[in-house]
Amino acid sequence: MEETKHLAHGFDVAAIRRAAANLDDGAVTEGYQADREAVIAMLNDALATELLCVLRYKRHYYTVSGPNTGHIKAEFLEHAQQEQDHADRIAERIVQLNGSPNFNPATLTARSHAEYDDSDDVQAMIRADLIAERVAIESYRQMIQAIGDRDPTTTKMLTDIMAVEEEHADDMRDLLA
Ligand SMILES: [Fe+2]
Ligand SMILES: [Fe+2]
Repeated sequence: MEETKHLAHGFDVAAIRRAAANLDDGAVTEGYQADREAVIAMLNDALATELLCVLRYKRHYYTVSGPNTGHIKAEFLEHAQQEQDHADRIAERIVQLNGSPNFNPATLTARSHAEYDDSDDVQAMIRADLIAERVAIESYRQMIQAIGDRDPTTTKMLTDIMAVEEEHADDMRDLLA
């Protein structure tokens, strides 16, 4: 009585196997609790935000100049690379959810929550980056609250990314004159 034994441990193995049956859905099974389309839409907003942050930090990294800006330049580069990593993780998650990651540059600025910045002054760059980080933190917080425990994999990924954005905001605040 294999079935009874499993049920005794609190698992309905037959139901689990039924929920797993549609192989075309890949990682998304019948028991997926969240609104998949809504999660994909939120993740695409986050992807646009991260891609825009890569561009802003790269622009700051390549153009920053002036005495004693070496450590600031290094910080801009590190942040650009970490924003790219966030974009990659988010795009991969969208695909796992059977969605389509939107990399369209024509609509990127409109879809991003954070803004681009082409300041020439180093302190103006840092201020723009700090604002963008605080925007990112707040939008991740809202996404995490909206999804809750209905998609734990996505919530965990967003929580991990948000923790890095909090480090970024702290780094930028430390560089404010
Ligand atoms: Fe990021
Ligand atoms: Fe960031």
